[in-house]
Amino acid sequence: MKFFLDTANLDQIRTAQEMGIIDGVTTNPSLMAKEGITGEENILAHYKQICDLVDGDVSAEVISTDFKGMISEGEKLAALHQQIVVKIPVIADGIKAIKLLDKEGIRTNCTLIFNAGQALLAAKAGASYVSPFIGRLDDIGQDGMDLIHQLVHIFELYGFETEIIAASIRNTTHILQCMEAGADVATCPLSTITGLLNHPLTATGLEKFLEDHQRMNR
Ligand code: G3P
Repeated sequence: MKFFLDTANLDQIRTAQEMGIIDGVTTNPSLMAKEGITGEENILAHYKQICDLVDGDVSAEVISTDFKGMISEGEKLAALHQQIVVKIPVIADGIKAIKLLDKEGIRTNCTLIFNAGQALLAAKAGASYVSPFIGRLDDIGQDGMDLIHQLVHIFELYGFETEIIAASIRNTTHILQCMEAGADVATCPLSTITGLLNHPLTATGLEKFLEDHQRMNR
């Protein structure tokens, strides 16, 4: 399973890239706003900076909701860098846009997926990725992981090449469950990925090793 970093924060991207633990980055307009990136020129420049920092795909989301707007934004974003994947919301015009962008050789990530029907339409249109939001489903009392299991099963059964990005990851248990379910990618905040390192026995074990070494080498 690949790890994408779900952020627009350059320091976090740099840190994760240096650790060698990420295969790409996903952003969305809320994450860009969190970093205070505003205005078309700055937004495009920021995506370019992310591409220069990371090896792998970088999802950049359109803000248009009509077909023409999504195509023109998508083409502009894709022209920025070969690592750019255009993120498109799963609405009717979005599905149409995914189809055309795919014909033009532009890769897409269909976002805001909350059920298998939405993912199926995106995959049929030729999306390179679909992004089911598991944490937000958990938030409303549904089991987000059920959707990941369902999508892995359907995509395997029908041989779709579309990759499943488990998004809206809230904790390390989500990550491990996504691995078990067979998700292609998990996109996560840096703290959730590094959270995988934490175990109290590792911390106490290391402390004891260092204490014993110091005691014998005084
Ligand atoms: O990038 C989309 C998704 O990962 C958002 O997550 O935490 O805002 O539900 P969250």
